[in-house]
Amino acid sequence: MLTESHSRRSVWLSLLLGQRVPKHRELLPRVLRGRRSRQRVLRRVSSTSPLDRARARAAHVWNQRRITELEAAERFAILAVELASQGASEPIVAMTREASGDERRHAELCLELADHFGAANRMTPSIIVRRVSPADLEERERLLYEVVALSCVTETLSTALLGALVEQARDDFAKQTMRSILRDEVQHSKLGWAFLAEEHARGARDCVGRYLPRMLEATLGEEPFSENVPATPEEELLAGLGSLQRRVSGRVAREALELVIFPGLERFGIDATLGRSWLTERVSASQRT
Ligand SMILES: [Fe+2]
Ligand SMILES: [Fe+2]
Repeated sequence: MLTESHSRRSVWLSLLLGQRVPKHRELLPRVLRGRRSRQRVLRRVSSTSPLDRARARAAHVWNQRRITELEAAERFAILAVELASQGASEPIVAMTREASGDERRHAELCLELADHFGAANRMTPSIIVRRVSPADLEERERLLYEVVALSCVTETLSTALLGALVEQARDDFAKQTMRSILRDEVQHSKLGWAFLAEEHARGARDCVGRYLPRMLEATLGEEPFSENVPATPEEELLAGLGSLQRRVSGRVAREALELVIFPGLERFGIDATLGRSWLTERVSASQRT
């Protein structure tokens, strides 16, 4: 028995070949209606405006960010327990606990932004958090490494990048939301610097410096540091909705590392030489491509 789609294909073939088989004649109006409707769909797709495409991409970006916020919430919750058990000062433990709650709220805000930009579906993330610290460090050093990676590096970078996003925001709801997230991220980075200062004051040795390239690689991944890439019109529109142009994100990340993160680490006894070399190498590799 012919399926309907098979039958339609046969009709199409007949029409294309100019063979109007009598038994197919009754199907002709349906075929023509189908063709007209397909043309309407094609016209709709091809006439999607750049702003619509940028909004669709923004929805995806905010959906993805929701997942990273949920991961951060888990990591801060684990760190709060470890900091308390290792005798970190009470204000730092309290700030870390609070950070976990903030990140859950950020995840909700990201979801609202994804909906605001017309997300077609909601991802159901499964969050698996692994320790990022090298296994050969002692337990307390591993804790310090985790705090430096999450707070001093990641949260400081987030603060810088969000600041640039807020400046460029063209959507009121996105701007307000990012501003509110930014206020919390500043606190999340502060708790890391405060713990690093405490550890330095009690004479902790530098357990991070030799691993900085690994930490930065894991944090920044494939972030391109090329600042000469011209942004496409769609990237410019997207920047107003919450995702920076590559040349801007590269510059902001580089400046945050050079002006805030490396000097901050050095101030508290962490040798940033390998981190600086990693950055120089990455910047020149980006310029070559
Ligand atoms: Fe966050
Ligand atoms: Fe955060």
